[in-house]
Amino acid sequence: MPLNVDKGLGNTIAADTQLSFIDGAKGVLEYVGYDIDSLARNSTFEETTWLLWNGHLPCAGELTEFSKQLRSEYAVDARMLEVIRSIPRTAAPMDALRTLVSALAHFDSEADDGSTQANQRKAMRLVAKTPTLVANFNRWRKGKPIVQPDLSMSIAENFLWMLTGAKPTESMSRALDVCLVLHADHGLNASTFAARVTIATQSDMYSAATSAVGTLKGPLHGGANQEVMEMLLEIGDLSRVDEYIKSKLDRKERIMGFGHRVYKAYDPRATYLKTFAKQVATDTGNLSLYEMTRRIEEIVLAQPNIIEKGIFPNVDFYSATTYYSLGLDLDLFTCMFAASRMSGWTGHCIEQLAANKLIRPHADYTGPHGLTYQSIDERTEPVTSSTSPSVKGTMSVTA
Ligand code: ACO
Repeated sequence: MPLNVDKGLGNTIAADTQLSFIDGAKGVLEYVGYDIDSLARNSTFEETTWLLWNGHLPCAGELTEFSKQLRSEYAVDARMLEVIRSIPRTAAPMDALRTLVSALAHFDSEADDGSTQANQRKAMRLVAKTPTLVANFNRWRKGKPIVQPDLSMSIAENFLWMLTGAKPTESMSRALDVCLVLHADHGLNASTFAARVTIATQSDMYSAATSAVGTLKGPLHGGANQEVMEMLLEIGDLSRVDEYIKSKLDRKERIMGFGHRVYKAYDPRATYLKTFAKQVATDTGNLSLYEMTRRIEEIVLAQPNIIEKGIFPNVDFYSATTYYSLGLDLDLFTCMFAASRMSGWTGHCIEQLAANKLIRPHADYTGPHGLTYQSIDERTEPVTSSTSPSVKGTMSVTA
């Protein structure tokens, strides 16, 4: 069969899914047929996770039982605290999370049980424990005592509790819960693809989740929300927005929080979050930050050709100010994305295994052919340059 070259795989369908549907041209996102806007307004993260994993909304009894099961998995094995304490306090939380998600496997006797039932239980553990790992690591790095989970609280409320040691207000918990709903799944995005590639080798769920966390970290994917906030803080004031953004655009630099590989219309997750972020910013005295984001959006969208290129704010643009208004450190933003997407990643893993096929694309070889092997004494020393390595780069152990 002739092979198509499709770098970035943007024109390739590599899996079937019943979790989420995206129409990038129209700006539509549905989880199992439900529009994201209606879920953000009406659902909770627990209910949305059930929906993604079961293909329908739960009835009241099912949701109560599911929430109870999730809560019973909030706590981590006491030995995980030793792992946390072995990570340098200076480590980036996403790097710590990558290590900790992987370490969870050592304390799960079912880690290598590939049965659907065991995978469902592991999915539940991963979703329930990820916020605990993030909060615990954050407390450790700040030299504060670990706060044990409160099993009477929802995932969002309990996370803020474990992070601060104070019971959050209802509107703070709701704000975080909305962000968790909005980020829970998104088709075959890069981190979900990484999870599916890993699980498709019949590796285990923890390995798949670890691959996904590492992939989400990148600034072109989940790391953009932190960069959005760094940009806002660097700008500092509404009066400086125009000059800052225009000179960035003049230098052909990308504005973080804009553009999306799939959406060439307004990111439907950003539509609701935009209104919601304003409310959260107002409630928490951060309205000036919100006003800066609105002005940035106006300037970017007024650029020639930008709308033709399909560049609009993405979910990260407005989640950044929401997380900041909730008092989260900037480097925890992507961890919240991971805590939410864990429900999508694990759901995709179970879906992948139900009709598994090893995912193994090809590379287009562009190197030389037919070279004659020379013994090491026949090879000429390269001409060393103190300024730059060769185009391909040279691996060296010298400083
Ligand atoms: N600011 C300004 N221009 C942009 C931006 C941006 N943020 N994003 C894309 N463009 C322009 C590019 O310069 C390019 O213009 P050109 O055709 O004149 O060269 C054109 O739009 C297409 O860009 P590509 O990189 O080919 O688009 P792609 O689909 O590969 O990129 C991506 C998508 C990586 C998300 C990109 O838009 C980007 O870098 N955005 C900033 C980072 C970001 O916000 N990432 C979060 C994504 S959402 C998520 O993962 C949850």
